[in-house]
Amino acid sequence: MQGRTDCKDFSANLTRGVRSGWTSWDSLLNQAMRQSVKHLLNSESAQAAVELSGWVRTRRDSKDFSFMELNDGSCLQGIQVIIDAGIPGSENVGKMNTGASVAVKGELVESPGKGQSWEVRATEVELLGEVPEDFPLQKKGHTPEFLRSIAHLRPRTNLYGAVFRMRSRLSYAVHRFFNQRDFTYVHTPIITASDCEGAGEMFRVTTNEAGKPEEDFFGKKAYLTVSGQLEGETYACALSNIYTFGPTFRAENSNTTRHAAEFWMIEPEMAFCNLEGDMDLAEDFMKFLVKDVLENNEGDLSIFEKFVDKGLRPRLEKLASSGFERMSYTEAVEQLQKSGKSFEYPVEWGVNLQSEHERYLCEEVVNGPLTVYNYPKSIKPFYMRANDDGKTVTAMDVLVPGVGEIIGGSQREERYDLLKAAMEHHELDLENYGWYLDLRRYGTVPHAGFGAGFERLLMYVTGMQNIRDVIPFARTPGHCEF
Ligand code: 4AD
Ligand code: MG
Repeated sequence: MQGRTDCKDFSANLTRGVRSGWTSWDSLLNQAMRQSVKHLLNSESAQAAVELSGWVRTRRDSKDFSFMELNDGSCLQGIQVIIDAGIPGSENVGKMNTGASVAVKGELVESPGKGQSWEVRATEVELLGEVPEDFPLQKKGHTPEFLRSIAHLRPRTNLYGAVFRMRSRLSYAVHRFFNQRDFTYVHTPIITASDCEGAGEMFRVTTNEAGKPEEDFFGKKAYLTVSGQLEGETYACALSNIYTFGPTFRAENSNTTRHAAEFWMIEPEMAFCNLEGDMDLAEDFMKFLVKDVLENNEGDLSIFEKFVDKGLRPRLEKLASSGFERMSYTEAVEQLQKSGKSFEYPVEWGVNLQSEHERYLCEEVVNGPLTVYNYPKSIKPFYMRANDDGKTVTAMDVLVPGVGEIIGGSQREERYDLLKAAMEHHELDLENYGWYLDLRRYGTVPHAGFGAGFERLLMYVTGMQNIRDVIPFARTPGHCEF
């Protein structure tokens, strides 16, 4: 057990006896001494001296002792602590109510109770922070809407604790996936002067709102990035395989359960790669993440299955073990037209697929993940590579049941003349994008990449229905609390 050769010193401290208030608990505030609840629950043996702290979930008192469940957020479960009446600190047990913070010293012993192997028999307890009666999380069964209004407290609930541990594990899995494949992690800028998607949905960054752009901080208009792709391409055209993983911002006024104004995106970019290689990587990426979630979820999946989505595990297992269907946009439109369904947005070749169409295709036509490729040129950004048919570009979207679009990508136009013409067609200011054209002037290469919405991935692996519930502090139209 790391950092614990000092058990003897610790017992000496205990037997020194005098509880001189806070100072006798200093060791507990040292991470090397404190053990997490997760660590204790996974212990291989009993331990004579343990120290832990956390927040009280529940407490039951009897005449001679109290049972307290303590949770420190390291895992879903709390650990049971038995506090005998009369031990130092037990005079405050009556104040150790749900939500109060408590520190414990004691012994880790086998638990006779069901569903847990270990419990802590306290030798000393300390009430660190009391909780008044207005603590909003005393009762169970709050609505997601209410919990969003207390976003600073909701990670203390079982469900949201699990969501945010999952968010952390999934980030780590993203880095592992690319690291195993020798991709270089590039930090693309958050403040940018280019509009990657050309959709004009950017937040302006300014210190001089009323002034002229040339008098502003950067001497020109600047924005929060909508995508790190263009800057990512510059690094792929030097280091071959790169990825970015960071916050992106969209000022689109879409008040849906799948759009946020601030969200995180993972964007790999590969030199010497075509659309097929791009679709293959997207599929491998999704499968890797889902397998990782199935294998390393530390019990958190169980709470999503119980409270959010009963079919979660089979759905994830299916994705991890079968190939994604692929379908061209033209085929997708044919499928939608022959469905006989009356969609809110009618379908004809050339329209953008709406969420209702995407979900019909993956939920009812293929019943699983689906990659749609070769979209009409007229509905896609300037940088996508033109196909020989003159009508379509090498775009691809990965659609999954329940969420719809989770990944969007393309092969990039690497031919200088065609790219320049596309930029002119989209009325881009070529002076601003000279650096981007340079990539095609100096040793151009076929290259491709995609963007995966991190929150949408999280919605998929947890079953959570609203993007506001998988990001710690959601920013959506009209909402920027905290
Ligand atoms: O399809 P998008 O707009 O693609 C791009 O930005 C490309 N430049 C990516 C690239 O090729 N490097 O966005 C990519 C993904 C979407 O598939 C979706 O999962 C997510 O980002 N996304 C959003 N997630 C949450 N809220 C929003 N407002 C989102 N907009 C896009
Ligand atoms: Mg897209």
